[in-house]
Amino acid sequence: MKDIQNQEDLYLLVDSFYKKLLSDDSISYIFTAVVKIKIEEHLPILVTFWSQAILGTGGYTKNLTQIHLDIDKKEHLTPELFKIWLHHFYTTVDENFIGEKAEQIKTQALSIATIMQIKIIQQNE
Ligand code: HEM
Repeated sequence: MKDIQNQEDLYLLVDSFYKKLLSDDSISYIFTAVVKIKIEEHLPILVTFWSQAILGTGGYTKNLTQIHLDIDKKEHLTPELFKIWLHHFYTTVDENFIGEKAEQIKTQALSIATIMQIKIIQQNE
């Protein structure tokens, strides 16, 4: 197994990750009913986001936390949902990659998820 090295690797990662999310009934409804994502448009955005975060490329300019605060207004993003999201993310990374970047992307996902959850609590106060 190798480390995450390029955008092709990130595409494989987000594609496998979303296959897990969408086949898990406990979270898939957020992507299919609350927000109806178009997977073919969504995956390249995720690649751009993670490429910026992990590979140091540019290109992602939106406010990611705000996007999730808006989802939370439609349907509460509970701690349980974040736990499920992170579980599938970690599993997908570990099934496909090993190395520094693989560790870095999991750490980043956890810190972003933590910030999102704090902001969600504040929004719902
Ligand atoms: C409970 C956990 C989460 C759920 C249910 C969730 C759900 C979603 C949904 C439904 C969208 C599509 C929004 C739209 O197109 O309007 C989205 C976008 C996105 N999510 Fe999440 N998300 C979660 C956590 C996270 C975390 C922790 C990260 C990053 C570490 C993340 C990264 C992204 C990215 C990069 C996008 C694309 C935003 C864009 O279109 O610019 N998500 N998420």
